Amino acid sequence: MRVLVIGSGAREHALLLALRRDPQIEALAVAPGNAGTASLAEQYDVDVSSGDAVVALARKVAADLVIIGPEVPLVLGVADAVRAAGIACFGPSKDAARIEGSKAFAKDVMTAAGVRTATSEIVDNPAHLDAALDRFGPAAGDQAWVVKDDGLAAGKGVVVTPDRDAARAHAAALLDGGHPVLLESFLDGPEVSLFCVVDGETVVPLLPAQDFKRVGDGDTGPNTGGMGAYAPLPWLPDEITAQIVSEIVEPVAAELVRRGSSFSGLLYAGLAITSKGPSVVEFNCRFGDPETQSVLALLDSPLGQLLNAAATGELAAFEELRWRNGSAVTVVVAAENYPGRPRVDDVITGSEADGILHAGTTRREDGAIVSAGGRVLAVVGTGADLAAARADVYSKVASIRLPGSHFRTDIGLAAVEGRIHL
Ligand code: GLY
Repeated sequence: MRVLVIGSGAREHALLLALRRDPQIEALAVAPGNAGTASLAEQYDVDVSSGDAVVALARKVAADLVIIGPEVPLVLGVADAVRAAGIACFGPSKDAARIEGSKAFAKDVMTAAGVRTATSEIVDNPAHLDAALDRFGPAAGDQAWVVKDDGLAAGKGVVVTPDRDAARAHAAALLDGGHPVLLESFLDGPEVSLFCVVDGETVVPLLPAQDFKRVGDGDTGPNTGGMGAYAPLPWLPDEITAQIVSEIVEPVAAELVRRGSSFSGLLYAGLAITSKGPSVVEFNCRFGDPETQSVLALLDSPLGQLLNAAATGELAAFEELRWRNGSAVTVVVAAENYPGRPRVDDVITGSEADGILHAGTTRREDGAIVSAGGRVLAVVGTGADLAAARADVYSKVASIRLPGSHFRTDIGLAAVEGRIHL
């Protein structure tokens, strides 16, 4: 099988590494890729938001399967173009990708499917903002206001704060920029990311993971695209994972089929395990980053064959997934000033060892690898348990040099110390 992967992050680096372990993979290509993926796959610089450009590349590399990593091409309909060209594609249609692209659509689907989620309200008129803020936040009995961009914002459009002025300022800035605002009730309880390979009503869950969205240790500072992740979750009973599948993901997949927007690809449920049970924070229409780096490090089943089965309608017949024993922890090394405008063009050393996945990197003409984005590297450690995986990942992080960079030191620590309670 010849596979083309679309995307340029550490998630795509992780996908390529896992695909390489699949004995049925004959050739790998990636577009646009990064300095780390260049040694794993033929690399092509095309506009991945253009269906025509992706189809032309898929034909050029004679791809049997195209795997689309990021949400933007999916929301723009690139998977539809690939399928229309007669090439199998792992990734939902434009219609189904609205589960991530429009939070209003996602809420509507969840309500129809009877799935527990935060209550919410869309504000698109600044004159209605203050009254709407009064219906959420501490005055309404919530711990905090949750203010989101009702569109794609790479995780950075979300502000969660007990400070009304900060909540108001973020909402007003979004409205000023012409973006409708989604206000949500705050969901307490530990967060879980559950990735499911889905084709129509068939749902195959991967290992549950936890993501760390705030930039600083102890969940401080602004939200980011994700600063680290670990899998599996020693504190989450298997019955709750099964409950998430049967009470949340399967009903949502069935509701999408019922609406004629059948989902084929990776359905990512972001949840809070509240005192009333699992409740949805958001759905995404693709593999999450950085959770994918941890989850795929533990996958023993052939990834190419799994994703191809979903893309060709054979998922229901796929063998039960096999997983390696132990744990995996991912730590993101970010550029100075991330999640603000990141410092770029700094030389990185120590980034070519095993377990160091690239995201915002590029190779300069003189051969040096330099930073080219906010999240620069995702370092993956594994071990017999979470404590061992943490020791492994932080020893790898210590060998990397990138001026001004920062990373969280507490990825997976609360779980190791038994501080996560349901
Ligand atoms: N880990 C957050 C995301 O992928 O959206």
